[in-house]
Amino acid sequence: MISTQVKNTSAEVQPQALDQANPDLVSFTPRTYGDWRDEFHKNGCVVIKNLISAERAQYYREKQIQWLKNFELGFDENDEATWTAEHLPVSFKGGMYFAYGSCHEKMAWEARTEPAVIDIFEKLWETKELICSFDGMNISLPRRKDLNWSPWPHCDQNPERKGMQAVQGLLNYAPNGPKDGGLMLMKGSAKLFNEFFAHKRESFDHEDAPPPEIKYMDLFLFSEKDVQWFKDRGCELIKVNMEPGDFVLWDSRTMHYACLPEGDQIRHVQYICMTPRRFATSDALKLKKECFENFTGTTHWPHCNIRPAKEKPMRDGEVCPKDRSEPFEKPEKTDAVLKLAGVKAY
Ligand SMILES: [Fe+2]
Repeated sequence: MISTQVKNTSAEVQPQALDQANPDLVSFTPRTYGDWRDEFHKNGCVVIKNLISAERAQYYREKQIQWLKNFELGFDENDEATWTAEHLPVSFKGGMYFAYGSCHEKMAWEARTEPAVIDIFEKLWETKELICSFDGMNISLPRRKDLNWSPWPHCDQNPERKGMQAVQGLLNYAPNGPKDGGLMLMKGSAKLFNEFFAHKRESFDHEDAPPPEIKYMDLFLFSEKDVQWFKDRGCELIKVNMEPGDFVLWDSRTMHYACLPEGDQIRHVQYICMTPRRFATSDALKLKKECFENFTGTTHWPHCNIRPAKEKPMRDGEVCPKDRSEPFEKPEKTDAVLKLAGVKAY
């Protein structure tokens, strides 16, 4: 039974069109699903257990470690003295990798095309015709001594987009307990998105905020006062603990951030988002095709805000000498890959 309904097929929402009264892309008929969707629609987030096997998760962990070693900067996963920036490719917030063609590494595409991963998004959006973001991965080494880290509560949906328009996910590869860093979610905050943004709000001037010349991003940074606003209304800031192979989904309106690990375990994650292909305009698909062919990453958004991540990884004020425009291991251009990339029609 199809219970979703497209309300606006012109999903490449331009800034000037954002203030339309009701730009929700899909209406979900309230009902009981009898699976993880009940919790997701109630809280705006849900953990789905054992999506891939422990062996498969280990395979991805090993691939990610090998990827770090491919740069030949002296990183050794068994020697903590090498867990510093000089021995690692350039990352954001201590472990998020978007550059170096990493969004198109074979392992990233293998994760996106895991049948169980696709199944989640097929169930969620009630269509088999999906496209995915060209998102990054997170490999965070614990107890880094060379990092200044601060929490950066944010949501990845522009306040002008109302309703649920994107759902983010991550596939977790390593044991991730209370001390292993990872995803912090303000449970219940997605439902308060409209109420919060009914007033004019200024995105917090965080030290890691994007430069103002990067306009119109689906990113809003919250201040400590904003965090309290959500708590005062019954939301709960939770640290999501996960086992290898688990998957977490959250509505892009949800306040969240990632914590650095403080235990002994390296954090291994692939960010994965999918939305229906019908949400994308032909221009968005054209841009996606270019990104796919040039191994460029995108934002978390699969169908719009296809802002090619062309920023070079900077090291000590210069472009990292290890910068590269291709993955070490290119993906196989299978039917599933080409369809999810938006390159091939269903
Ligand atoms: Fe985010």
